[in-house]
Amino acid sequence: MSEARVIDGKEIAAKVRADVAAEVKSLKASHGLTPGLAVVLVGEDPASKVYVRNKAAQTVECGMNSWEHKLPEDTSEADVLAMVDKLNKDKAVNGILVQLPLPKHIDSTKVLNSIDPDKDVDGFHPVNVGRLGIGERSLVPCTPRGSVILAKSVIPDLSGLNAVVVGRSNIVGKPMLQLLLQENCTVTVAHSRTKDLPAVVRQADLVIAAVGRPEMVKGDWIKPGAVVIDVGINRITKPDGKGKLVGDVDYADCAKVAGAITPVPGGVGPMTIACLLQNTVDATKMQHGIK
Ligand code: GUN
Repeated sequence: MSEARVIDGKEIAAKVRADVAAEVKSLKASHGLTPGLAVVLVGEDPASKVYVRNKAAQTVECGMNSWEHKLPEDTSEADVLAMVDKLNKDKAVNGILVQLPLPKHIDSTKVLNSIDPDKDVDGFHPVNVGRLGIGERSLVPCTPRGSVILAKSVIPDLSGLNAVVVGRSNIVGKPMLQLLLQENCTVTVAHSRTKDLPAVVRQADLVIAAVGRPEMVKGDWIKPGAVVIDVGINRITKPDGKGKLVGDVDYADCAKVAGAITPVPGGVGPMTIACLLQNTVDATKMQHGIK
């Protein structure tokens, strides 16, 4: 059997960013609006610092305003809530993202729920979760949004497909279910208690792996020709002691069977920030009643 087509997340993310940049330009011309994204980072988590730097650079590249609010590790919960409140009230700020994880002494749910739902570009607020569930216009979590774009790059109409989502997190698995339902897929959400997981995954025309277990999905779980989207990013240590990033899918094994597959890195990862930028434009349009 021939090897699966590789879905190039970097290339597709660049296209999304180009579309965002074009939309930003046209919003400026038609309404005099420049979308703006504020990111709040509390503490010194090295991975978070890298994410935040990349987000800011790409926001500016797309022609939008970007603000980074860096707060020390020992900032009180009240001070973080006060920062969010200030950004909620600031008309120039269209999107607010509080970088996770927050330090342990801060209640993340409380902070995320204090963000104005119309500025919640992560799509984590219960109001957005509810809007997505009933098919209202909403801000949609970035990683699931990016995953659907990647799947549609191979199969533009997902209607009628059997989709199996492995993982039921609030950030990926559950919103993935809603988005795939909107695409008219028949969706199964499998998880750690699912009986005979390989047999369930074998039914799928579209597999979305989001469990956080390195290389768990094997080639003999995959229906020949299926599209495989790997949301996992896991750092493992190889037998030679070197570190390596791998997904939740055993790539080499599954690429022999799948019709198309996303690599890690270079698959879903680059799509997340691109979709965050798109969400910032969407939020701006919603706030100003623009279709
Ligand atoms: N930390 C890692 N990924 C994310 C994300 O998508 N949103 C937020 N807010 N924090 C993160």
